[in-house]
Amino acid sequence: MSRIIEPFRIKVVEQLRMTTREEREKILRRAHWNLFRIPAEEILIDLLTDSGTGAMSSEQWAAMMRGDESYAGARSWYRFRDRVREITGFRQIIPTHQGRAAERILFTCLGVRDRVVISNTHFDTTRANVEFLGGRAMDIPIPQALVPAEEHPFKGNMDLVALERLLGDPAHDVACVIHTVTNNSGGGQPASLANIGKASELCRSHRVPFYLDACRFAENAYFIKLRERGYADRSVAEIAAEMFSHADGATFSAKKDGLANIGGFLATNDDALATKEEELLILTEGFPTYGGMAGRDLDAISVGLKEVLEEDYLRYRLAATRYLGNKLTELDIPIVRPPGGHAVYVDAGALLPHIAPAELPAQALACAFYLEGGVRGVEIGTLMFGGVDPQTNHERFAPLELLRLAIPRRVYTQTQIDHVIDVAAAVADNKDSLRGLRIVEQARHLRHFSAKLEPL
Ligand code: F0G
Repeated sequence: MSRIIEPFRIKVVEQLRMTTREEREKILRRAHWNLFRIPAEEILIDLLTDSGTGAMSSEQWAAMMRGDESYAGARSWYRFRDRVREITGFRQIIPTHQGRAAERILFTCLGVRDRVVISNTHFDTTRANVEFLGGRAMDIPIPQALVPAEEHPFKGNMDLVALERLLGDPAHDVACVIHTVTNNSGGGQPASLANIGKASELCRSHRVPFYLDACRFAENAYFIKLRERGYADRSVAEIAAEMFSHADGATFSAKKDGLANIGGFLATNDDALATKEEELLILTEGFPTYGGMAGRDLDAISVGLKEVLEEDYLRYRLAATRYLGNKLTELDIPIVRPPGGHAVYVDAGALLPHIAPAELPAQALACAFYLEGGVRGVEIGTLMFGGVDPQTNHERFAPLELLRLAIPRRVYTQTQIDHVIDVAAAVADNKDSLRGLRIVEQARHLRHFSAKLEPL
């Protein structure tokens, strides 16, 4: 069969509500031009995130009924722990309510105050957790990652020359290196096993812990199978195991490749560190055999971690994202090429050159997508990553101004994605009429979630 189709059928549906353009204008004004402030009821196609928004399978729902809600030593915990061990090879598994809790516990226990954390690109919560604890988050993607139009099979790779220089520089006390696979903020692009392996070797020789931010590990592993020489005949599970084998530990949000709506973990082989992490876990998340989750969540994730490695699923998953990305390219809408695993990133900087970064072009584009057809994406640009740098007190700008259209797992049909393509075409036809935005109210950390804006 040459056509790649959804390897599932639909058993339960969720009603969507249509709105008119006039209604959406009012809604946007009421939300202060911040799409996080719009109730989901008023969204038609929600591409805000692929995190926790996936559809669970009937097997996962069945597993939830097996959920054991015992406080200590629940059966669900052992199923979860064994599955995570099987996939990652790590001994110590620390269950958290989502990825950012794993990040907070890791960075607290490693101690990042006045130290540096290096990544290909930190995700926003990862950066915020480092900075909140008084550390400095540094991003060193390969140079190609910053050129959206450039085709490269592994744009999620880390710049190994920069890594070696930073690790050898006595001016930088590096607390850890965390490789994000796939690199979400860098366009959902994969990292190669060669790059992961070499980054790991460099860290080992400088005695710096090397971690994976493994939220989308299965998508990354499937890209490796498709694109890296020598892996075409290996199973995705084997490739994933090899990825994890290079790391000292991992943080994981089960809301992505756990195919679950909540959950996460922190994993390591460092027993002493794990003891410290468990102490903090008990203080802020929960007892070590459930952490931040209910027993039923643990079971949903255990099944999800099996389904996510099925190649029919991954083939469909990457094809769905590629379909949207390539259609936008055909329409001459600039995107981060090639399309990533979980999302298509529209290059708002290139599409709207008349809007300066300080006037938030990607946010302006996000608002236009909503107005045009009720589609909600998310700005990954200066609204998310700008603001005042806590180290230098200078205003900073994002390296790229992107609108991310993230695709929830197993949720939308191709017709619905065709609607998104129609919306994108209409917005692009009127791009010269779009105006920038100004921030009128913002929080100190993660300002994009709650900021209030107004059009210029
Ligand atoms: N790391 C990466 C690469 C992520 O994409 C996310 C979340 C996290 C860590 C934090 O995980 O949400 O479970 O606490 N990304 C979501 C997104 C929110 O929309 O991309 P979390």
